[in-house]
Amino acid sequence: MKDLKIAVVGLGAVGKEMLSTLEKSNLPISEIVPLVRRNEGRIIQFRGKGYKAKKISEGVFKGIDIALFSAGAEASRTLAPIAAKEGAVVIDNSSAFRMDPDVPLVVPEVNPQAAQKHQGIIANPNCSTIQMVVALKPLHDLFRIKRIIVSTYQAVSGTGLAAIEELNEQTKAFAEDKEMPVNVYPYQIAFNALPHIDDFLDNGYSKEEMKMHNETRKIFEDNTVRVSATTVRVPVVRCHSEAVNIETEKPLPEVAEIKEILAKAPGVKIMDDPENNVYPLAVDCAGKYDVYVGRIRKDFTIENGLNMWVVADNLLKGAALNAVQIAELIAEKNWLKGGKDNALDCAEVRRNIC
Ligand SMILES: NC(=O)c1ccc[n+]([C@@H]2O[C@H](COP(=O)([O-])OP(=O)(O)OC[C@H]3O[C@@H](n4cnc5c(N)ncnc54)[C@H](OP(=O)(O)O)[C@@H]3O)[C@@H](O)[C@H]2O)c1
Repeated sequence: MKDLKIAVVGLGAVGKEMLSTLEKSNLPISEIVPLVRRNEGRIIQFRGKGYKAKKISEGVFKGIDIALFSAGAEASRTLAPIAAKEGAVVIDNSSAFRMDPDVPLVVPEVNPQAAQKHQGIIANPNCSTIQMVVALKPLHDLFRIKRIIVSTYQAVSGTGLAAIEELNEQTKAFAEDKEMPVNVYPYQIAFNALPHIDDFLDNGYSKEEMKMHNETRKIFEDNTVRVSATTVRVPVVRCHSEAVNIETEKPLPEVAEIKEILAKAPGVKIMDDPENNVYPLAVDCAGKYDVYVGRIRKDFTIENGLNMWVVADNLLKGAALNAVQIAELIAEKNWLKGGKDNALDCAEVRRNIC
C-alpha cells in the first residue's frame, strides 16, 4: 500500500474522532492536512508530529489521496466536488450526497463492493442507519427482511459539539436551580426525550426517519425492504441505542441460532444475558468500535418476527470509524484515483475489517 496524504475537513465532534481513529489505524500516512474554517494555524498533533491547520483555498486538495469530510452538508456540497476534481477521493460524513445515484453509500462490513464504483466521492451513511444495517445484514442475507420497525434513542453528540455543551450546561443549571439555556434543540434536552431529529417532512416523518428507510434500501441494494422509524433524541452524551423489530420472509430459527449467526458477523458483538442484567448500554459502548446487540427475542405477535436492542458509538462506527474503514478498504484494494481495479472478494474484505 502506498503512503497516503490525508486531508481532514472540519475538526468538530466527528473530525476529532477522525484524527484519533486514523492515528490508531494501520494506514501508512505520510502527511495529515487539517482543514478548518476558523483558528487556522493551530497545531494538530498526529503520530508524534505537529501539523498546522489550514484554511481551504484553491488547490489545497492537489496531491491529497483521501479527504475525510465532517464539516456539514453545506460545506460538503460546495467543497467535496472541488476536492474530487483536484484528485482526492472524498469520504463524506454529511447527508449531501448519500442518495446521489452516482455516489456509493458504504458500510464496509455490509456492502464493500459498492465503494469500487466511486467517481471521486463516497458517502458515509447516517449514524443510526450504520449500526442498524451492521446488525441486520446477516439476517437479511439468510431470511430476507421484509419490514423493520425501529425506535431510536440518540445521543446529543450526534448533533455535534454544541449539543454536548448544551446538555452539560442544562444539567449544571438544573443542579444549581437556575434557568436552563436552550439554543441547540427547540426544547431542553436534559431530563427529556425529543421525538424530533432533523426537519419534519410533508409525510409527518422527520428527515432522520426517512434517512433510515432510504439509506437502508440503498446499502442493502434492495428496494423491497421497508423501514418504519421513530427517531428520538435523549440526554445521553455518546452512543445511539435502537429498539429494532424485524419481520422476515423466511422462518427464523431459534434465538440461540440467531445469536450464533450474529456472533460471527463482522463488527457485531453479542451482549445478551438479561437474567444477569447483561445487555448493551450506551455508557459501556462509548469508545468501542463494534455494534453491540442484546435483548434478542422472538416477536410472539407475528409469525416471523424478532426484536433486538442495538447500541453503537455514533461518533465512531456511526461516523469516524466507518469513514476510516472505507479509507482502509479503498487504499488496500487500490481503488484510489488512478488505482487499478482489483477483483473483490467480499468475504476477504469483511474478514480484514473485523
Ligand atoms: N456527530 C455524529 O454522530 C455524526 C454522525 C454521522 C455524521 N455526522 C455528520 O458529520 C458532520 C460533522 O458533524 P459534527 O458532529 O462533527 O459537527 P460539529 O461538532 O458541529 O463540527 C462541525 C465542524 O465543521 C467545521 N466546518 C464547518 N464548515 C466548514 C468549512 N467550510 N470548512 C472547514 N470546516 C468547517 C466547523 O468549524 P467551526 O468550529 O469553525 O464552525 C466544526 O468544527 C455533519 O455533516 C454531521 O451530519 C455526524
